[in-house]
Amino acid sequence: MGPVVSGHQVLGRDGSLPQGAEKHDVVEGMFDRLAPRYDRMNRIISLGMDKGWRRRTVDALAAVAGGTVLDLACGTGDVCRDLAARGYTPVGLDFSAGMLASARVDAPLVRGDGAALPVATGGLDGVTCGFALRNFVDLDAVFAECARVLRPGGRFAALDATVPTNPLLRAGNAVWFRGAVPLLGRMVAHDAEAYRYLPKSTAYLPPAPELEHRLRAAGFRDVRHATLTGGSVLLLTGTRA
Ligand SMILES: C[S@@+](CC[C@H](N)C(=O)[O-])C[C@H]1O[C@@H](n2cnc3c(N)ncnc32)[C@H](O)[C@@H]1O
Repeated sequence: MGPVVSGHQVLGRDGSLPQGAEKHDVVEGMFDRLAPRYDRMNRIISLGMDKGWRRRTVDALAAVAGGTVLDLACGTGDVCRDLAARGYTPVGLDFSAGMLASARVDAPLVRGDGAALPVATGGLDGVTCGFALRNFVDLDAVFAECARVLRPGGRFAALDATVPTNPLLRAGNAVWFRGAVPLLGRMVAHDAEAYRYLPKSTAYLPPAPELEHRLRAAGFRDVRHATLTGGSVLLLTGTRA
């Protein structure tokens, strides 16, 4: 059964995740609604670790000093701030008008879709992406756009939530994200539905070897992944060939 886009329904009535064009609209609407409370919830559900994960991503980017970096799916701008602090020139892009309106950053912000970037070909030194890979409808189209806008040698670094492979850590992760997080979402963000979607949405993310393969197929070399915090976070990097 497909999801109901109206109201605050994000998952289908049978708990299914939205797909295709429905996913695009559901995700955009959900982040528009969450935007004012998004940062606060991030700190809570990551137990304060999300800032460190984003800084690790900017470190792993290792683009040319002072380079221009597109932060894809920038949300409220946390990665843009970290990029600027490291001396890069960030530009943020997101399709949620609500998230962009809640951003408090000096970087220029653009409303747009990751699968059709309003950016010239080959002009960028880096692309970052925080916690958004699983939200894209067509990941290959997004990877292809990242390849198009980067100059040869340009760097890519993306961070996303995943599920640990260690059974004990996996069980702990499930208790937190499937039990506590929706409750916190109800109390803090007044949106339990969105915080039921967010942990479930890790199912969209392909396994790391497949992600690496698809990034290579889009035109990247030196593709690698690392896991952080017991495997609950994945960091994917590559260089434009
Ligand atoms: C979990 S938030 C991450 C925000 C930010 N990068 C961070 O690290 O906090 C996911 C973001 O992806 C954006 N997003 C999802 N699909 C998108 C698309 N196709 N094009 C642009 N932005 C998209 C959402 O609007 C949302 O702001």
